[in-house]
Amino acid sequence: MSLPLPPVLVVDDEKNMRRSLQTMLGDEGHAVRTAESAEEALNLLAREEFLMVITDARLGGMSGYEFLGKIRSQWPDLPALMITAYATPKLAVEAIKAGAIDYLGKPFAPEELFHAVARCAERHRLLRENAALRSRAGEIFSLEQIVGDSEKMRDLRQLIRTVAATDARVLILGESGTGKELVAGAIHTLSGRRAEHYVRINCAAIPETLLESELFGHERGAFTGALKQKPGRVEEADDGTIFLDEIADMGKPLQAKLLRFLEDGSFTRVGGTEELRVNVRLVAATNRDIVQAIAAGEFREDLFHRLNVVQFNLAPLRDRGDDVLVLAEHFLRMFRARMNTPAAGFTAAARQKLLGHRWPGNVRELRNVIERALILETGRDIQPSSLPDFAVETRLQKNTPAMPAPDESLDAALERLERELIHGALEQNNFSLTRAAERLKLTRHSLRYRMQRLNMKLAAGDGDPAGSID
Ligand SMILES: Nc1ncnc2c1ncn2[C@@H]1O[C@H](COP(=O)(O)OP(=O)(O)OP(=O)(O)O)[C@@H](O)[C@H]1O
Ligand SMILES: [Mg+2]
Repeated sequence: MSLPLPPVLVVDDEKNMRRSLQTMLGDEGHAVRTAESAEEALNLLAREEFLMVITDARLGGMSGYEFLGKIRSQWPDLPALMITAYATPKLAVEAIKAGAIDYLGKPFAPEELFHAVARCAERHRLLRENAALRSRAGEIFSLEQIVGDSEKMRDLRQLIRTVAATDARVLILGESGTGKELVAGAIHTLSGRRAEHYVRINCAAIPETLLESELFGHERGAFTGALKQKPGRVEEADDGTIFLDEIADMGKPLQAKLLRFLEDGSFTRVGGTEELRVNVRLVAATNRDIVQAIAAGEFREDLFHRLNVVQFNLAPLRDRGDDVLVLAEHFLRMFRARMNTPAAGFTAAARQKLLGHRWPGNVRELRNVIERALILETGRDIQPSSLPDFAVETRLQKNTPAMPAPDESLDAALERLERELIHGALEQNNFSLTRAAERLKLTRHSLRYRMQRLNMKLAAGDGDPAGSID
């Protein structure tokens, strides 16, 4: 759910131009405000939030160039697009120098305009996301927030306690929605650095060019728009912890700089020469397959080893057995406190339905499912009908096609499906043959027979020792 974008401010002393820009942008779904002069526009800017400014280079009073200068000094983050009489390289340079992030020469195609506006909208979204991350920085994390009674989760909480007390770097891996952010936060809260700053940066949410200056800061004049010196967030995190989320999305040049930083905590601000040094603990996370990213040449192996001092591998929810129900109850209590709803628990059938789903979106998905169920449910307990139709969703997932693959026979497809279903049942039941057989309404003996026929093996030492079929 994205918030509506603020309006675009169009500044031009020609009425026709204002009108046509307003119509074009309006048709694309943008709210538009107009001003006849830079003076009028500055007044508006002082009072309202805008997505971006589009200004003509030539205006009645103050020129477009002067106007851009004022915008840059007062609202450095506000993107401005300049429209010049013709597209010449010289005018382009002047517009950019004055602080425009882009320029258009008349006449221009509507697509060029839309492109420029779309880029500004994207930038706006990213800035907003990071502001949200920052405003959540005061959030308190604790071990109690990490809910789950399975052995995996108990071990996880123990490992967090042990590792938090040290200064070791931590790399957190796990599918999307498995709780990586919670773990990172708990590590900081339980560490000796808890009284200092906990700084979070989402490497995927910031364009590569801005990420370096976000991390390490910049000197005045380092690039267009760098009007003031800005300290890096690593400086903010001095004596505290920095959490680099989605680390696998960081570009290679910056990976090299991060590697150097990890060696001794030293860095240089963008456009600077002075070597600075901080004492920061680093925690990183990614939901991507980092080994595959290394193999594909997208992630530096040496950086991986530096980050990977302690590795947390968060299990997907489908591998956590009954934790699905423990978490469902947890979210039920949580949302009940906020909503006015009669629902107090789950019916047995609803429980069964929750246990049968594969949860590709993990805990985040479960949380959303429970929130939705509480909105829909009118009875005392949550019924299966208030839960999504998981069967449809499972079929929609790309790795479980409803059709045989192009060169696959029906028999082969059935065999594959059977194998997947059995594997799923085993996974959900901690690889206990007895429970998986119960789930599939088979005897243990016939499940074992089918597995032998499909050439499936039970991993040794898992769940049900007596269930080994070898
Ligand atoms: N064990 C847990 N107990 C309670 N809530 C949890 C647990 N794990 C995750 N959550 C909740 O699920 C949601 C997703 O968790 P989180 O944001 O930490 O996932 P993530 O691993 O960082 O996912 P992504 O890779 O998509 O960023 C959050 O609302 C979080 O509070
Ligand atoms: Mg996350």
